[in-house]
Amino acid sequence: MASNSVASTKVLESKWPPATDLRGSNLPCRLEGEVADLIILGEIPKEIDGTFYRVMTDPYMPPHPQNVPLDGDGNISAFRFENGRLERDAGKALFGLYRNPFSHHPCVRAAVDSTANTNLILWADKFLALKEGGLPYEIEPHSLDTLGYDPYGQGDSKAKTFTAHPKVDPYSDELVVFGYEAKGLASTDIIVYSLDRDENRHDEQWVQSPWCAPIHDCAITPNWLILVLWPFEASIERMKRGGHHWAWSYERPATFIVIPRRKSTPLPAGWQPGEYRIYNYRNSMLIHTAGAWETLDGTALYIETSRYHDNAFPFFPTDDGRLPAANLKADFVRFTIDLSKPSGSTLENEPEMVLDLPSEFPRIDERFLTRPYDVLFLNVLTPRELRPDTDLIFQGLDGLAMHRRSTNTTQYYYAGPDSVVEEPIFIPRSEAEEGNGWVMCMVERKAENRNELVLMDTREFGVPIAIVKLPLHFKAQVHGNWIDQRRLRGRKSLVRRGAPDRISGRGALEVE
Ligand SMILES: [Fe+2]
Repeated sequence: MASNSVASTKVLESKWPPATDLRGSNLPCRLEGEVADLIILGEIPKEIDGTFYRVMTDPYMPPHPQNVPLDGDGNISAFRFENGRLERDAGKALFGLYRNPFSHHPCVRAAVDSTANTNLILWADKFLALKEGGLPYEIEPHSLDTLGYDPYGQGDSKAKTFTAHPKVDPYSDELVVFGYEAKGLASTDIIVYSLDRDENRHDEQWVQSPWCAPIHDCAITPNWLILVLWPFEASIERMKRGGHHWAWSYERPATFIVIPRRKSTPLPAGWQPGEYRIYNYRNSMLIHTAGAWETLDGTALYIETSRYHDNAFPFFPTDDGRLPAANLKADFVRFTIDLSKPSGSTLENEPEMVLDLPSEFPRIDERFLTRPYDVLFLNVLTPRELRPDTDLIFQGLDGLAMHRRSTNTTQYYYAGPDSVVEEPIFIPRSEAEEGNGWVMCMVERKAENRNELVLMDTREFGVPIAIVKLPLHFKAQVHGNWIDQRRLRGRKSLVRRGAPDRISGRGALEVE
C-alpha cells in the first residue's frame, strides 16, 4: 500500500548572523547597477536639476556576529534629476567589530577600517564620503568611483579622524571640521579647523575631551563651534576582551564643548584667549543638531537638537549589560548656553520644547546656517491622531514635519501604514527666501518590499507632487544630501545610454 510522507523540513543555515539589522526589510542590498527613466507619479518640476546622494551601511560579507548596525560597507546611491526625469546609479570580512582593531584579522589591522558609510558632502571641487572613525574618501560624483583616501592630507597635524558632520558656513565660505580620537584609539584629543575653497587650513586648534566620548554632530554660529558629546565611553581594555568600542554610561552627562572658532572671536567677559568650555546636561543622547545661533551681545548660544532620554543605541549597552526601556521617549528641543558660566558647570535650565514628538534627522535651509532660522524639517513619528500605527520608535519614524518658528505651526507628511521615512532633503527654489523650495525623502514601503522617492513643495507641505517608484528595496540610508547640478563639474549621465536606434526599414509592419 502506497504511503505519502513529507520529509521534515531541514533547517538551512546561512553564514549571515541572525541580527535584526540584517533581516526583513533590513536585508543587505549590495546591488551595483543603474536604472534610467523610472516610473514617476505626478510631475517633477523642470527647475529641479541636481543629484540626491545617499549612503547606507550595507555589509558585503557576513559580518562579525556581534557587530553593530553602524558598521558595514558604505553603499552610495545617486538619484539624478534633470528635465523632470530621473536616473539612478548604485555604487559600491576581515574586519571584526565596529572600531575595535583587536577584533580585526591581523593582516588588516594596519588598514583603514573606515567604510565611509555615514555622510556624503561636496566641498569646493571634492565630493567626500565620510565616517567619523577615519579620514574622508574622495568619490567621483558621476561614476561614484573611489578616487582616494585623505584627499586633504593631514600635514603636520597627523590627525587620524574627520567628522561625518562638517558644517559649511555659507557666510564665511568655510568648511568647519573637527575630528575626535584624533591621535588614535581611545585618545581624548580633538582637532578643530576650517578649510577654505582652496583647501587651505585655518584656525587649527587642539582640544581635550573630558572623556573619550563619541562626538557625532556639532553646530556652528558665526563665532563659535559647539561639539555634542554622547554618554558612551571607549575602553581599550574592553576592546581587548573582544567587547565593543563604546559602552553607555548612566554616570556621564550629555555634554557640549564650546570653542571659539577663531582667534578673532569676540570673547565674553571672563574668557581667556585659547580657552574653551565644557557644559554638562543630564544623562541623555542628543543625536543630531538642526543649527545654532548666538545672541547679539555674544553672551549666549542657542542650539537645537533631537533628544533621546536614554541610550538610543541599545547595541552599545552599559558594561554591566543594562539596556534602555523599549518605550524610549524622545523629542526636539532648544538649549540655551550661558557663556558666563564656568567650564564644567551644569546647565541650569531644562531646554525649551520645540516639538514634543519622537524625531530625528533635523535639517534646515542650510543657505542660512549659523543664523537664527525660521523653518525646520525633520523626520518624526507622526502625531497619534494622524495614523493608525503603534508608538514604538524602534519600528521607524513614519513621517516628516515642517515646523515654522515665527508662527509656531507644524505641518506633517504621513507616509502611511507599514512605511518608514528617511531624512528630509531640502532643495531651495533658486534665490527664494528661507524654506521656499522642495523637500525630498526616501520612503520604504515594507509590505511591498520596495522604496519610493517622494517630492513635496514646501508651499503645500505634506502633499507629494511627485513619487518616483523604485523597482527594488534599499537599506535605510544614514544620511543624504542634495547637490545642485551647477555645483558639479560637467554634466555626465549616471547611466549608460546606447546610441539612438535608426529606423531600419525592416519592421514586419513595413509595407513592401
Ligand atoms: Fe549623523
